[in-house]
Amino acid sequence: MQIDQLTKIVEITEGSTKLLVPENSLKVNAPPKDPAFFNPRAKLNRDLSVIASSSFLKNFKGQKIFLDSLAGVGARSIRIANEIKNTEKVIVNDINAKSIELAEKSAKLNDIQNCEFSENEACRFLSLHSKRGERGAIVDIDPFGSPSRYIDCGIRATAHGGLLALTATDLPVLHGLFQNACKKKYYGVPVRTEFSNEIALRLIMGCIHLIGGRFDVRCLPLFVHTDMHYYRVYVRILVNSEVEDRMGFIVFCNKCGHRRLQKEPENLCEVCKQKTELAGPLWIDNLFNKSFIETMLMEYQKYSVDKRCEKILAKSLEEAEMSGTYFTLDEVASRMKSAPLGLDNALEKLHAAGYFATSTSLNPTGFRTNCRIDEIIKIFSN
Ligand SMILES: C[S@@+](CC[C@H](N)C(=O)[O-])C[C@H]1O[C@@H](n2cnc3c(N)ncnc32)[C@H](O)[C@@H]1O
Ligand SMILES: [Zn+2]
Repeated sequence: MQIDQLTKIVEITEGSTKLLVPENSLKVNAPPKDPAFFNPRAKLNRDLSVIASSSFLKNFKGQKIFLDSLAGVGARSIRIANEIKNTEKVIVNDINAKSIELAEKSAKLNDIQNCEFSENEACRFLSLHSKRGERGAIVDIDPFGSPSRYIDCGIRATAHGGLLALTATDLPVLHGLFQNACKKKYYGVPVRTEFSNEIALRLIMGCIHLIGGRFDVRCLPLFVHTDMHYYRVYVRILVNSEVEDRMGFIVFCNKCGHRRLQKEPENLCEVCKQKTELAGPLWIDNLFNKSFIETMLMEYQKYSVDKRCEKILAKSLEEAEMSGTYFTLDEVASRMKSAPLGLDNALEKLHAAGYFATSTSLNPTGFRTNCRIDEIIKIFSN
């Protein structure tokens, strides 16, 4: 099959869904945007999206509508429609007519009856679905780059109690290469550290929280995830005029490695009294919801997804109620000028000394603990 003179279209299977995609997108590292975008390497991202959507819809009381505002060839939403049996309606939208043409053909191929298709600009599409009764139980925003321009209309298009899922791929901005751009898009600035992915997720979450506050909407993260070139957050949207302020700063001391999440900025390190660096304003509350992740771990069993999902979810569950931010074994070792400990050994030492300590899904050699850096160094030295 072809959708233009040059592009060959092939059928693949992702999860248990057949998808029609441009053949070139399977052959190159950076998939082309023309004639239609599909990234096979984002399968893990879509697998987790299927698990999260299934977990969410299981307990959602209203109409189970999934709005895919930047759908590409519909890989995510066609999978949701095909694989999650209680989905009532899926609307697949993209500005690119050729993407939508492929999505429609994929839906037919899987004999899906509950899909609608829309070729529109994402904010227009979301605005058309911002009336009560037409909002999404789940709204997905998966742009190239920053999602910030779509957050307002995404929140408006999400039902009360619904789920807003969004991706950010503007890593240089979120990692502090362009501080002004970050301030403009996310209302806060990062510092460059070993745990910059946690800062990025907290900046994205902070931005959603601030925008939600304008509409008297509470935005509560249920699950966050990062892999390769993207960050992804899953946020529950609740209409509530009493929106609590959950913004603050990460106070980080480059000198001794101390870090803390707190409401007020702090200029002096409480451990070594040197000048601190500040990331924020950003979200300082939990990033994971324990019971949602427990449900995800159960739903995981139902689907044909990457085995890595289980590991990510198991780690997320462990760290769900731990405070930020994590340390890495390499960072601690370089401060101690010694070889890094193994993760299990490090956690055992912290537990034996009476501290909470868990691994983190955000970094393979990362760990969270309520132990301060000066004490960690003493414990690891023994
Ligand atoms: C990262 S891709 C989406 C990938 C897809 N969600 C998936 O999981 O495979 C971004 C998509 O957004 C579309 N797009 C870009 N700007 C848009 C806009 N303003 N409104 C609607 N779609 C847009 C592009 O055509 C592209 O298909
Ligand atoms: Zn210090």
